[in-house]
Amino acid sequence: MRLENKRVLITGGARGIGKGIAQLFLQEGANVILLDIRKMELEMTLQELKEIGKPCEAFACDLTDQDSLLKTLNSVWQLFNGIDILVNNAGKAVREPFLQTSVENWEDVLQLNLTSMFTVSQFISNRMKEYQMKGSIINMASKNGLAGSSMLSHYNASKGGIVLLSQSMAVELASFDIRVNAIAPGFIDTPLDQDLKTDNEENLALTNRTPMKRLGTIQEVANCALFLASDESSYVTGSTLVVDGGHLANASEL
Ligand SMILES: NC(=O)c1ccc[n+]([C@@H]2O[C@H](COP(=O)([O-])OP(=O)(O)OC[C@H]3O[C@@H](n4cnc5c(N)ncnc54)[C@H](O)[C@@H]3O)[C@@H](O)[C@H]2O)c1
Repeated sequence: MRLENKRVLITGGARGIGKGIAQLFLQEGANVILLDIRKMELEMTLQELKEIGKPCEAFACDLTDQDSLLKTLNSVWQLFNGIDILVNNAGKAVREPFLQTSVENWEDVLQLNLTSMFTVSQFISNRMKEYQMKGSIINMASKNGLAGSSMLSHYNASKGGIVLLSQSMAVELASFDIRVNAIAPGFIDTPLDQDLKTDNEENLALTNRTPMKRLGTIQEVANCALFLASDESSYVTGSTLVVDGGHLANASEL
């Protein structure tokens, strides 16, 4: 068991990658709190995860509502009397051309993907510092935070921001024994990824440009999160772990 009795908060844990990370962390002995806006899916996921037999709780909360978020974070901290590992995973993408992107959509994506990550991280790391707790924070970026693409200017900007936010936090928090790292997945088989794809031809083109010629799995991203959460990565901070089947390494391929 690599996370025996570690207290973990996972945002966006109702489905997709967040749910997969929760499942693996519980199997590795952690106690997990999920935070998500999708009440029904959250409740169903919670019931499913409780069967693993480790403490698992959930809070329905909109991460973009600052007041309710701060109240929820207070309750989260009290529930397990602390948090050792934070996984900032919630995120969304809107697909539209840069020239037609409204400022409302721009702010909407940045508010969830970047600003709420800042708020959650600042709250949790301040508490970790106050209680002199060692911590690990994992921020879900994307390969789109490391190279540009069409139709996703707000998403890409938010993910690029996450990479630099993670590095900046890592530098300032190292002296408090808090490590901060990012994960940059490529195309992973999840509901969000399905939303981004318009047709099968596009699917095929995307996987064809990926040297490993397939989508990644939720389990493959969760395994990276487990490494960064556990003491196996005790000297790793400020890094961005790319999980993309070689997609970025193949950047000059036509
Ligand atoms: N799927 C991919 O291919 C892929 C690739 C790179 C990065 N990512 C990143 O991984 C993370 C998880 O993606 P996923 O594919 O599992 O997506 P998903 O849509 O399946 O899951 C995202 C979760 O975030 C929650 N969420 C959305 N808005 C929220 C809000 N306002 N408040 C609280 N919760 C909210 C959703 O309800 C959902 O449960 C995201 O940050 C995404 O950008 C995904």
